[in-house]
Amino acid sequence: MTSDTRASQGVSVSLRALHQTFGATRVLDGIDLDVPAGTTTALLGPSGCGKSTLLKLLAGLLAPTGGEIRFDDTVVASDSICHAPERRSLGMVFQDYALWPHMSVAANVAFPLEMRGIKRAERSDRVEDALSLVGLAGLGARRPQALSGGQQQRVALARAIVSAPRLLLFDEPLSNLDRDLRTRLCTDIGALLSRLGTTAVYVTHDRDEAEALADQIVILAHGRVDKRITR
Ligand SMILES: Nc1ncnc2c1ncn2[C@@H]1O[C@H](COP(=O)(O)OP(=O)(O)O)[C@@H](O)[C@H]1O
Ligand SMILES: [Mg+2]
Repeated sequence: MTSDTRASQGVSVSLRALHQTFGATRVLDGIDLDVPAGTTTALLGPSGCGKSTLLKLLAGLLAPTGGEIRFDDTVVASDSICHAPERRSLGMVFQDYALWPHMSVAANVAFPLEMRGIKRAERSDRVEDALSLVGLAGLGARRPQALSGGQQQRVALARAIVSAPRLLLFDEPLSNLDRDLRTRLCTDIGALLSRLGTTAVYVTHDRDEAEALADQIVILAHGRVDKRITR
């Protein structure tokens, strides 16, 4: 195992008075939140309460209409600044896996490294590491469609960690899986997060998942932090 996949050090994230409106709709109405380095925060709340919007703001896929996001001491987003996703050292995992069907598992996982110009030999070592960390060693040559849903989500997880990001963002990653797979993958994600030491923000509407994974659970309602439970 190379040091690269494991060397990720988490960033600390702080949100201050974060606002997001879409036209006349106010989705986030002043979010204040701290995610300490190396910890996992679960965002819970009903459908439509703004969880994915908050993740997009953290990712830099959306610029906030007000307030500020800091990664350590750096302002990455405000009403006048918005660092692009590639400047934020992120990995993301979505509900629908978002894998490229025409590419092998290994090529999917290698993609973020290719984008950073990392050479082929190093790429393939790091892809092997990431695949073995998610329990998919030896499956790099397969196409995603030849894998089960749970395995496909593990590929997405490998792709998210391969570049040793400082922040991992999860948007309901287990919602498409049946219960047994969900439980197993949830346990494995928890073990992986403690092993990597990466900071994570994990969106879910499943309280059990939040309790299994998170150091802090944040419940959103009406665009605000309704409740914050530290564990
Ligand atoms: N780009 C957008 N334009 C307009 N409305 C949006 C946009 N993105 C999200 N919304 C609205 O913001 C609200 C919160 O959405 P979202 O963050 O996806 O909620 P959640 O992930 O908690 O289900 C919803 O009412 C949604 O329709
Ligand atoms: Mg959502």
